[in-house]
Amino acid sequence: MKKLHNKVAIITGANSGIGLATAKLYLKEGAKVVLSGRRKEALDEVAASLTGDFITVTADVSIAEDNKRLIREAINAYGNIDILFLNAGVVLKPTPTDEITEKHYDEIFNINVKGPILAIKEALPHINDAGTILFNNSVVTQRGFDGLGIYSATKGALRAYQRVLTSEVKSRKIRVNSIAPGPIATDIFTKMGLPKDITEEMGKGFAQRVPLGRFGTPEEIAKSALFLVSDDASYINGIELEVDGGMSQI
Ligand SMILES: NC(=O)c1ccc[n+]([C@@H]2O[C@H](COP(=O)([O-])OP(=O)(O)OC[C@H]3O[C@@H](n4cnc5c(N)ncnc54)[C@H](OP(=O)(O)O)[C@@H]3O)[C@@H](O)[C@H]2O)c1
Repeated sequence: MKKLHNKVAIITGANSGIGLATAKLYLKEGAKVVLSGRRKEALDEVAASLTGDFITVTADVSIAEDNKRLIREAINAYGNIDILFLNAGVVLKPTPTDEITEKHYDEIFNINVKGPILAIKEALPHINDAGTILFNNSVVTQRGFDGLGIYSATKGALRAYQRVLTSEVKSRKIRVNSIAPGPIATDIFTKMGLPKDITEEMGKGFAQRVPLGRFGTPEEIAKSALFLVSDDASYINGIELEVDGGMSQI
């Protein structure tokens, strides 16, 4: 029996990296998947390469109306929701505190915090009892990286919000968990807008701080994202699972 047979899953930020690897695994495990992302051309490209029961929805998570439409289109296609994976997120250019601007702050917080919270608000009435909500947090809530103050603050905010949500949905037996990845080889680093050599140098620094001495892969995160939403994790609720090669532990 497939682990997500007939389950309906929404994944935000599913056109690349961790979201895409998770979408592939959920499809393989029998889920009906709603892949959402900001760039339509990227979603179209992904759609052409996938097999299984899925739809794509172009939606910017930082826009309230887009979150409403995402959930509406998911419901229209599949009825109720079993799994909501709030994965979309950005780091943007590392910025020390004395260079932080309101624009930088608003952009990251709107995508990383406002987006998931509004998506949950829209989705909640349609999430089946005993469904699951999964956040994609980060090791940055446990280890400090210069220039990533705002990004780290967004992930800390999600972790705090997750605890409240876990309690708020308890009467419906909805499980609310998080993954906290360490450095994972995705496009998120190239999207920071830094020169290639600096990005590579930064990557080496990250890897040195991981006991396993390397970046993780999106597929390694996807396996945890499958575990936490599946019945294998039926008594796991409210946690943050570090998938970071040990980075948060030393
Ligand atoms: N890679 C890591 O080392 C790492 C570590 C810890 C946590 N994470 C978290 O993992 C999640 C996924 O990141 P990733 O590493 O897989 O990077 P990625 O390949 O860049 O994927 C990020 C996804 O989020 C989407 N996204 C960004 N802004 C959006 C918006 N406003 N509306 C809708 N979608 C939006 C992106 O779409 P576009 O490409 O169209 O912008 C993309 O599909 C993020 O929340 C990130 O914070 C990553």
